Amino acid sequence: MSLLSLRDFTLSFNEGGRLLNAVKNIFLDIEESEMVALIGESGCGKSATALSLMGLSNDDAEYTGHIFFEGKDLAVFDEREWRSIRGERISMIFQEPMTALNPLLRVGPQIMEMLLVHQRIDKKNAKKMVLQMLKSVNLADEERIYKSYPHQLSGGQRQRIMIAMALINNPSLLIADEPTTALDVTIQAEIIDLIKRMNEQKGTAVLLISHNLSLVKGLTKRAYIMYSGSIVESGRTEDILSFPIHPYTRGLIASIPNVKNRGKRLYSIAGTVPSLEERSNCGCPFAPRCTIRSDRCFSNFPKQKDIQGHSYSCFFSPDEIEERMNG
Ligand SMILES: Nc1ncnc2c1ncn2[C@@H]1O[C@H](COP(=O)(O)OP(=O)(O)OP(=O)(O)O)[C@@H](O)[C@H]1O
Ligand SMILES: [Mg+2]
Repeated sequence: MSLLSLRDFTLSFNEGGRLLNAVKNIFLDIEESEMVALIGESGCGKSATALSLMGLSNDDAEYTGHIFFEGKDLAVFDEREWRSIRGERISMIFQEPMTALNPLLRVGPQIMEMLLVHQRIDKKNAKKMVLQMLKSVNLADEERIYKSYPHQLSGGQRQRIMIAMALINNPSLLIADEPTTALDVTIQAEIIDLIKRMNEQKGTAVLLISHNLSLVKGLTKRAYIMYSGSIVESGRTEDILSFPIHPYTRGLIASIPNVKNRGKRLYSIAGTVPSLEERSNCGCPFAPRCTIRSDRCFSNFPKQKDIQGHSYSCFFSPDEIEERMNG
């Protein structure tokens, strides 16, 4: 059994009495201690998915399907049940740490609070554990950091605080929602290294969310490619990067700078991500932007096909896609 299993999961928002799908019929699995990537353009539904896994969707959100986690279906949890696993079994780090930290409180006590809420532990021991945690996320000078306010720290340090806070209760799943987009490139690499190290040392499974496929190269074993609320391709990250099948994934990869296309104008997929309203029709969500679409692509969502663990949803076969795109 997987640690986390989204089964035919759909998330809709109630907009003036109409239910609009933000995420549609997705299947996604994370094994224990596994690091998995969820990739897609801005607005495709990555954060909406992540927030559902934390029980943090807005009141206007509705789910169908299942969120199996450690043998329970979280899709039917009430707020009291969510509180018992949020920050304890499943934790999340956000794109912009400032929004998740309380600016009026010193960071040490904020991390300690996470411990006190979930564990029977006295303050003295809790503080010891926090200082140790600060050290293990490479915040040397942990006594000073403990007493600092969020604004006294750099962006990279604040993101380390978020990681410390997320991991202090030793959760089995960490969701990292674009954890490095707000940071500069060298700090980005350090934070990614840290998440990787925590995954290895503590065996925490990680769902790493990003719009950047090249970021997850060599980092996650498997990846899911999301387009407009649907998973269009999934499999081993290496396979997806080397042999992308779905026209959308191919476009994504062609838009990553590499040695071959250096100096040339980078490919970009024409058009924009559809709105929630457009997302509620029944065809392939990528059809309006796809260069090889046919009529049926607008009327039905293509069934997922699987080639040795590499899955994709397109009516055409890999050979046909290759031929039509490059022929
Ligand atoms: N509470 C809400 N009510 C209505 N629509 C929402 C709500 N939250 C998100 N959406 C919509 O759902 C879609 C998916 O948003 P989401 O934040 O999940 O995108 P994302 O993939 O995380 O994008 P980004 O890469 O920019 O973070 C967007 O069209 C967004 O406007
Ligand atoms: Mg997001």
